[in-house]
Formats: sequence, structure tokens, C-alpha cells
Amino acid sequence: MASITRARIMQISRMLRPAVQSHQNVPQVRIKALVSPVASRYMSSDVGSYEHVLVEKRGDGGCVGLITLNRPKALNALCDALMKDLSGALAALDADPKVAAIVLTGSEKAFAAGADIKEMQNKKFVDCFLGGFLEGWNFITKMKKPVIAAVNGYALGGGCEVAMMCDIILAGEKAKFGQPEIIIGTIPGAGGTQRLAKAIGKSRAMQMCLTGDPIGAQQASDWGLVSSVHPPDQLVNEAIKLGERIATHSKLIVAMAKESVNNSFELPLSEGLHFEKRLFHSTFATDDRSEGMTAFVEKRKPNFTDS
Ligand code: CAA
Repeated sequence: MASITRARIMQISRMLRPAVQSHQNVPQVRIKALVSPVASRYMSSDVGSYEHVLVEKRGDGGCVGLITLNRPKALNALCDALMKDLSGALAALDADPKVAAIVLTGSEKAFAAGADIKEMQNKKFVDCFLGGFLEGWNFITKMKKPVIAAVNGYALGGGCEVAMMCDIILAGEKAKFGQPEIIIGTIPGAGGTQRLAKAIGKSRAMQMCLTGDPIGAQQASDWGLVSSVHPPDQLVNEAIKLGERIATHSKLIVAMAKESVNNSFELPLSEGLHFEKRLFHSTFATDDRSEGMTAFVEKRKPNFTDS
């Protein structure tokens, strides 16, 4: 997949915004159907035609974007075209001023069964190295808005890695998380060895990456990989409810909190604490910090303006 820079995503987002805004009161819509002919042309040439993902707005006032991976015949294997669709859908929802959080899900059978093995089968080292294979997948971590993975069924290999790129993971009771790459003669290549070790610790990450054996939802919960476990048919609604809860807050301050927590994975503690303090200080330059505290003192609900 061609890599897409943050600047490019924002450029695309700006182009899509007017079309999406004009339909912002529709609670359940497919973003693809909303875009103007100009934006639509731009989308299909630059961010895909959403062949493999469904995009809707759910929750109160359409405040939660819902992206459903939709390549059932291959158990949502993450082929180039699907990842291109996903990057376009995420960018559009991240830029939509009505959307406060994004839920990413798959089917009840599979969140995603990994990178597409058939696409990878004949690749040579030189193709991977010079083509920057999988280097573009990080776009998921660049969203300003919280991304909640709602994982039913298989989250294997790249599927588990994509879930871990999200900010929060909720699991269905039958979810299976695994890094089975070792079974097909390779290793995780989209963050599995790194994010898994940070999420569940070295010994458990080693066990999963060296055996290739998956773990169930309860195990994933006990090990701290997921926040909570739900009946499969209620999972997406639970994730949307969580998104709605986040949507009651200032989008600006939510973005700051998200950035600060995510930096805990990148920075040594002293630098992370310094970064957090500077962001905390920065909230005092916002209208929403002033409104939030004033509303508390006046014993009323805050009216955030995301500014
Ligand atoms: N890539 C491509 N196609 C896949 C796929 C994948 N990762 N996973 C499943 N499929 C396809 C199968 O080939 C099959 O297609 P056909 O009907 O055309 O043969 C279809 O999806 C259904 O799969 P199964 O018949 O295998 O379904 P199952 O219920 O018997 O088994 C499964 C389900 C255990 C998930 C099994 O499909 C499986 O083991 N899949 C591969 C999992 C895997 O190894 N993932 C890691 C990939 S490597 C990676 O992700 C690298 C990285 O770090 C990014």
C-alpha cells in the first residue's frame, strides 16, 4: 500500500469536510454517499472506493463513526485495497466535526485474519525492503480522535496488530487474539512484537509470538490487552456507547489526553511527565478548560465548543 502522510490525510480531510458537514444531522449514513462529485473523484483516486469497508455514523447525533471491515470471503485479511479503504474512511471520520470517536470492527467470525498471505506469498526481500512493505499501516495511530477496536472472532497477525494500533480494545466473548506469523515462517511485521510486549509483558508476548498460539477474550482481558469482554451481538453497541460517553467531553481536550497517554509508549518517564505537564498547562489556553471548570462551580453541564 502506498504510504500516506499525516499532511496528505489532512489535505484529503479538508476536501471532504464540506460534503460531510452538509449531512451531519443524519444519524446513520454512509460517508461515501455524502461526498461531493469533486471529493468523490478525489477519494477514489487517492484513498480508495471503500470496496472493503462500510462506513456509518451512529450514536447520539451521529457522534460515533463506525467502520466495519467487510471482506468476508477472506475473513477480512488485510490486503492493500482494504488498508487503502481503511485509511480513507478513518481520515474522513477524523475530519468530520460531528464525530467524536471512531469504532473499528469486523464480522462476528473475524475482526481480521491478518495480512493477506496470498498477496505476500511471492514477495521477495527486495520488494519488501524497497517497497516499504507494511510501513504505511501506522496511519491508524495518527488519528486525533479516539479509535476503539471492537473485536469479535479472529484478530490474528496483522489483525491483532491493527487492534493494538487502536486506542481502546473491547472484545467479544469468542474473540481470539494471536500472532501466528511464526507458523508461516515469518514474524509479526506491524508492531506485534513491540505493542504486545508493552501491553501484556515480555513473557506472555514471547509465548504468543514463539508458539503462534492464540489466546481467548477472557485471557486477553486478564492480561490487560483488552478493556472489557461482551456478548458478541452486543459488542459493537457497547463500543458505540463508549464512544458516546467520550463524545460528551471536549474533542480538543480528548485529543490532548489521547496524545499524552500514547506518548507514554514512546517517551522515557521524565520526558513523558514533562510532555504531559506542558499539555496540561496548554489546556489553560482553551475555552473548554475555562467552561468545564466554570460549569462545575455553577453546578451545570458544560457547553464545550471544542476550542
Ligand atoms: N490471508 C489471505 N487469506 C486468508 C487469510 C489471510 N491471512 N486468512 C484466511 N484467509 C482466507 C482463506 O485462504 C480462505 O480462502 P479460500 O476460501 O479462498 O480458501 C478463507 O479466508 C477462509 O479461511 P479458512 O478456510 O482458513 O477458514 P477457517 O475457519 O478454517 O480458519 C483461520 C480460520 C484459523 C483464521 C485461518 O484462516 C488462518 O489460519 N488464517 C491465517 C491466519 C494468519 O496466519 N494470519 C497472519 C498472517 S501474516 C501477518 O499478518 C503478518 C503481519 O505481521 C502483518
